[in-house]
Amino acid sequence: MRRAEASAPGKIILFGEHFVVKGYRAIATSTSLRAKASVEEIRGPGIVIESENLKVRGSLNLNLEGNMPRELLVYVEILRALKERGFSLIPHRVKLKSYMPISAGLGSSASTSVAYALAYTALHGNPLKDRDLLEVSLEGEKVAHGKPSGIDNTIATLGGTIAYRRGEEPLKVEVNIPEGYTFLIADTGVKRSTREAVEHALKIAESIWKIASLIYEAADRIVEEALKALKTGDVKTLGSLMYVNHGLLNAIGVSHEKLDSIVDEARKSGALGAKLTGAGWGGCAIILAREPAIENIVERISKHAVTIEKARINVEGATIDYSSQ
Ligand code: PMV
Repeated sequence: MRRAEASAPGKIILFGEHFVVKGYRAIATSTSLRAKASVEEIRGPGIVIESENLKVRGSLNLNLEGNMPRELLVYVEILRALKERGFSLIPHRVKLKSYMPISAGLGSSASTSVAYALAYTALHGNPLKDRDLLEVSLEGEKVAHGKPSGIDNTIATLGGTIAYRRGEEPLKVEVNIPEGYTFLIADTGVKRSTREAVEHALKIAESIWKIASLIYEAADRIVEEALKALKTGDVKTLGSLMYVNHGLLNAIGVSHEKLDSIVDEARKSGALGAKLTGAGWGGCAIILAREPAIENIVERISKHAVTIEKARINVEGATIDYSSQ
């Protein structure tokens, strides 16, 4: 019986979330927190999909009919998209596991979708490559999120770091963070709706646009300076830009007391920079620190976070980790 495993990275937004909604630039990067899919051919009769994190499973026949929990419908769309591209549907079981906090703005659903599509096609001896893999995984996200921007799937597929502006092709970003510096990802555990946070920020910004436009311009300048700092490995500047970016996000109403506490404690315990990442109102904060400072930082922020993970950024995209082919 054939078997294949694949994985794909999660993403963090380093700079520019929310401001990007109004056409300004943002920078997103891949992280070493990955999602994995293990696909195994079975004797039949159909398809079994299991999510370890969500603790749910569903089954389908080979016409994609059956009993599938709502959280797993995204994967049915992946199979439908693969079928449309000529892949035969065979009886198999897939186990999906995310090594990053889920529903926390780190792109776990996109990473899992990419990993599944890659593992399934690797098992057929015909693994999808970049653009095709991205397109297939996006079919799943359309079901999960309505109108995904595609950033999570782009990062999960291609890895690396990108700068993007609405409606334009993402640009690859050069990153040269020196050895000895690490990002921490702290999950507040507070669940929030990206859509509601986005609407709230827009409402504030539009009600005081004469002032808010300066904030949005400043955020765009931060991106410009951050692109230089990432290239030259100027971690000190990068950190300062993170703190300022957090302040601007707070100004448009998308922070949360736990996020502010994490950023404050990080600053007091010597982190180079810290900010919320993604939609805010909860979810995750990212912290940039020198390795020796990490223990102290983790201790001080731990009361505001349910998980704190060390993560490398700018890592490789989707990979086939095993294939019996
Ligand atoms: O929830 P996340 O981490 O995928 O972040 C959403 C990013 C926003 O800029 C707030 C919204 C958007 O569509 O870009």
